[in-house]
Amino acid sequence: MDNHSGADMVEFGPHTHVLVTGGAGFVGSALVDLLLARNCTVTVIDDLSNGMLRNLPASDPRLTIHTFRIGDPAYNAAIHDEVGLADAVFHLASPIGVQRAHKERFAVTSGILESGCAIVEACRVHRCPLLYTSSSEVYGSGRDRPITESDPVTTDLRPRWGYAAAKAAVEHLVAGLFFDFGIPTWIVRPFNMAGPRQRSATGLVLPMFVDAALRGEPLVVHDDGEQRRAFLHVADAAEGLLLVMQCRSLRGRPVNLGGSEAIQIRNLAKIVVDATATSAPIVMKPSSAVFGDRFAVTYDRVPDTSLLTTMTGWRALRSTKQTVVDCIEHMRTERAIA
Ligand SMILES: NC(=O)c1ccc[n+]([C@@H]2O[C@H](COP(=O)([O-])OP(=O)(O)OC[C@H]3O[C@@H](n4cnc5c(N)ncnc54)[C@H](O)[C@@H]3O)[C@@H](O)[C@H]2O)c1
Repeated sequence: MDNHSGADMVEFGPHTHVLVTGGAGFVGSALVDLLLARNCTVTVIDDLSNGMLRNLPASDPRLTIHTFRIGDPAYNAAIHDEVGLADAVFHLASPIGVQRAHKERFAVTSGILESGCAIVEACRVHRCPLLYTSSSEVYGSGRDRPITESDPVTTDLRPRWGYAAAKAAVEHLVAGLFFDFGIPTWIVRPFNMAGPRQRSATGLVLPMFVDAALRGEPLVVHDDGEQRRAFLHVADAAEGLLLVMQCRSLRGRPVNLGGSEAIQIRNLAKIVVDATATSAPIVMKPSSAVFGDRFAVTYDRVPDTSLLTTMTGWRALRSTKQTVVDCIEHMRTERAIA
């Protein structure tokens, strides 16, 4: 690993130009905010399949926005142009959400592979540093203890795992850029991230709960509700992504990014009910009744983030409660605008 050049580290400041794919999305737009706060210039490529232009400060002269689909061959030349101009690329563009992965396996799997191949190839040609957001989905059904990066990547042919298998395949391409071509790359495996700008339409649990609570409709908890997750505020996530890309020792290897407060999903629902002061009920439903029998259930999925903390000094600054409150505040504002 030490054979690779040391002149390859990215400093995020006024002379840095960064390409963020998926930058109009939930995490991408928080990352763009952070990069602009560091006085970088930023280009976003987002097809707006799930992102929104209003997530971005479009009038900021340091920001350029392109709205096309990465993976569409018609835009390969444009991708090469943009990667060629960038000092660093964050590749976040991806279809997301367990519901969508389960219901639209082909589109989700091919979407991840096509966009991943396009970005990796452009970074290979232009020798551009690349950070890739994979997913904790690659760890499969979960564990009864915090998951470390050395836990195995497991998938099978149930539809949900197409997302994970595609993410894992792109991880190999990204690792290959580093180990086979000496191009600095980083692979981040985010766990549950949450907070402002996350959309309930993607079926992610916290915005779904908040949306239901604000409408006064039942908050649907799957199975016994005892499955545990750890939620990370999106602003802490963005800080983590930036720190990872400045860490030489993390090149070419996966690193977990996630919260540290494990919480049962039924307790998350209670926090949302309390924080919104809704009279909406919490109801329990078997996941098989929501998704059908072929759904792959995930029990506890909580990260061990000690690698990230040891290597970069990163730690989450915002609590789960704060994350829930910020999500509620954002969704209330959105409802008021609509
Ligand atoms: N949010 C989480 O909890 C979580 C957990 C694990 C991994 N991740 C990963 O983190 C990244 C960001 O997730 P997010 O929650 O911000 O999702 P998001 O949907 O809000 O953002 C992804 C963005 O990519 C865009 N996009 C999708 N496919 C594209 C394509 N082919 N070309 C151009 N743009 C495209 C979408 O319009 C969207 O704006 C994704 O790679 C996701 O897989 C997220």
